[in-house]
Amino acid sequence: MIAIVGSINIDLVVYTSNMPVPGETVLGDKFRTNPGGKGANQAVAAARLGAAVTMVGRVGNDPYGKLATENLRNEQVETGYIDVDNAAHTGVAMITVTNNDNSIVVAPGANFSWKREEAGLYRELLRQSKVLLLQLEVPLPFIEEIAKLGKEEQCTTILNPAPAQQLSPSMLDLVDFITPNETECQTIFKQPVEQAVRNYPNKLIVTEGKKGATYHDGNRLVRVNGFLAKAVDTTGAGDTFNGAFAAALASEHPLAEAVSFANAAASLSVEKAGAQSGMPTKKQVVHRLGT
Ligand code: RIB
Ligand code: NA
Repeated sequence: MIAIVGSINIDLVVYTSNMPVPGETVLGDKFRTNPGGKGANQAVAAARLGAAVTMVGRVGNDPYGKLATENLRNEQVETGYIDVDNAAHTGVAMITVTNNDNSIVVAPGANFSWKREEAGLYRELLRQSKVLLLQLEVPLPFIEEIAKLGKEEQCTTILNPAPAQQLSPSMLDLVDFITPNETECQTIFKQPVEQAVRNYPNKLIVTEGKKGATYHDGNRLVRVNGFLAKAVDTTGAGDTFNGAFAAALASEHPLAEAVSFANAAASLSVEKAGAQSGMPTKKQVVHRLGT
């Protein structure tokens, strides 16, 4: 089983041909209300690929919270560990999307109500989980504590350090895989990708959009190629990578294979609008891997 501890949001998305610069107003095109949040997105990505997934999250006592939870249930994600916080609103993301880019502001609401001491509530779940998948849209002290428990309960832990923030050496030590994109890698490690991955062999996997992903295997730099895609919306591509990577590790794929599988899944996800709608089934990924 995969346990995902992280954010659940509703995404308010405007599609536009021009990204506004600060202070500018532009006329956009379509508007959509989509399920999102890095945690929930990664849960859906893994579940569509056939993995057994439990989502640990918090929503507000409001229509968005119900919508987001129902969506996860429809996607076969186990929702018994999603709490309703009466004192906060469901997380919301304001997203602007162009063909090749997106920008996002998140108001985390209930996602940020976790205290470090509450991590213990999830020990039993972690004991039953093989893979633990974490992001940084919930409070860092809480996530650090979850990572500690994950280690004690022998989970294989993946940390997707998004949005990027300073991480302690002990946090980096606790987890088995760290999966930033190039920008996040620069923020966290303050080194070029090739250099950073050298210091964390078989552990730091840097995603590079359509180029694929890079890591170091202890002897050499490994570049895992991406796949050609007709991008319409890159929102959630990183989440698809992480969900698919977790699913591949849960079914015991070796690292290089798991990364390639995740690249293929991510490339499919960008071909449809919204963070979750393009997330592929296993069959679609296998087909793309063969192209
Ligand atoms: O990674 C994409 C996600 O980031 C969006 O769904 C949005 O909710 C933000 O959390
Ligand atoms: Na998409």
